[in-house]
Amino acid sequence: MNRIALSGIKPTGIPHLGNYLGMIRPALDLAKDYRAFYFIADAHALNQLRDPAELDRLIFEVAATLLALGLDPEKVTFFRQSDIAEIFELAIILAAATPKGLLNRAHAYKAAVDANLAAGRDGDAGINMGLFTYPILMAADILLFGSHAVPVGEDQRQHIEIAQDIAQAFNRAYGEVLTVPRAVIGETIADIPGTDGRKMSKSYGNIIPIFAPPEELLKHITGMVTDSRPPERPKDPEQDNLFRLYRFFAASAETETMREKYLHGGIGYGEVKKMLFDVLERTFGEARGRYEKYIGDRPFLEGVLRYGAVKARAVGAPMLANVRKAVGIRSY
Ligand code: ADP
Ligand code: TRP
Repeated sequence: MNRIALSGIKPTGIPHLGNYLGMIRPALDLAKDYRAFYFIADAHALNQLRDPAELDRLIFEVAATLLALGLDPEKVTFFRQSDIAEIFELAIILAAATPKGLLNRAHAYKAAVDANLAAGRDGDAGINMGLFTYPILMAADILLFGSHAVPVGEDQRQHIEIAQDIAQAFNRAYGEVLTVPRAVIGETIADIPGTDGRKMSKSYGNIIPIFAPPEELLKHITGMVTDSRPPERPKDPEQDNLFRLYRFFAASAETETMREKYLHGGIGYGEVKKMLFDVLERTFGEARGRYEKYIGDRPFLEGVLRYGAVKARAVGAPMLANVRKAVGIRSY
């Protein structure tokens, strides 16, 4: 139980099934065997959001979501990134040990530059330093707590690799001060498809929110893209969004029955949609009730996050003191 798991979720949109399967569920599972630190990465969200009221609302939506899904704030240290000043100080110290080339190669930055160049703009047009140094802040999140395991979705793999590189560069210069973390990425849950078949993502507008009310959930599912084959024609289940999502929530016997029906014909997409709706209701119906209770009680949520911040700083402050000492900055 001394090993540490840590992960963060950006409050940039309402949490969706991709977040749940890719990060939230594995993180909550890991919390059974690890000492877990999970947090709301609001400083990272600043790179994307420009509306303070929206950021404020999303922070509480994410907090309510995690609690409703079973995060126990007594067992997990659950906090808001911006409450931990030590993270930001560590980020500045780490920046001094981070080769710029490492960040030039980061996917998110490179993709933004490539998009600019493809559109005939200056490579850095509209790119802020927060995006460029995003991996340093993320490394600070991870390294401040001596994390061993970082449960995330596949798209975060490179960020963890950069955190490893930064920790190693720091340790080479100053001795074994920082723990080198490893990513924990579920093999089967690489990329959860959205309603249009592409990776489910806020940025594609193809999400299914975890706690959409039943009518809205049904609307999302009804709108899912399928081909137009009639029920009696055999279909390849692996090529179909509905099946690819269904199997994550159905029992294995249910998934096998469904797979057979696809392969041999005899089930139409309308019926599959109904069954997908039912398994999602079964999975999240009860938790949605808890979500609604929490989201209506901000003082409670604020209390939970502040309690988590006190616990997080108790671990982070001594680590930062070690780092300051290692680099030759006095602690006060
Ligand atoms: P989004 O792509 O919607 O902006 P985030 O980048 O905030 O989502 O992701 C939060 C966490 O959820 C990350 O660990 C990420 O890897 C995971 N995640 C997001 N979308 C998916 C998906 N479609 N499949 C699997 N994991 C995902
Ligand atoms: N970058 C992560 C994402 O977009 C969120 C995040 C911030 C994070 N800091 C972290 C994840 C530290 C794991 C560990 O999803």
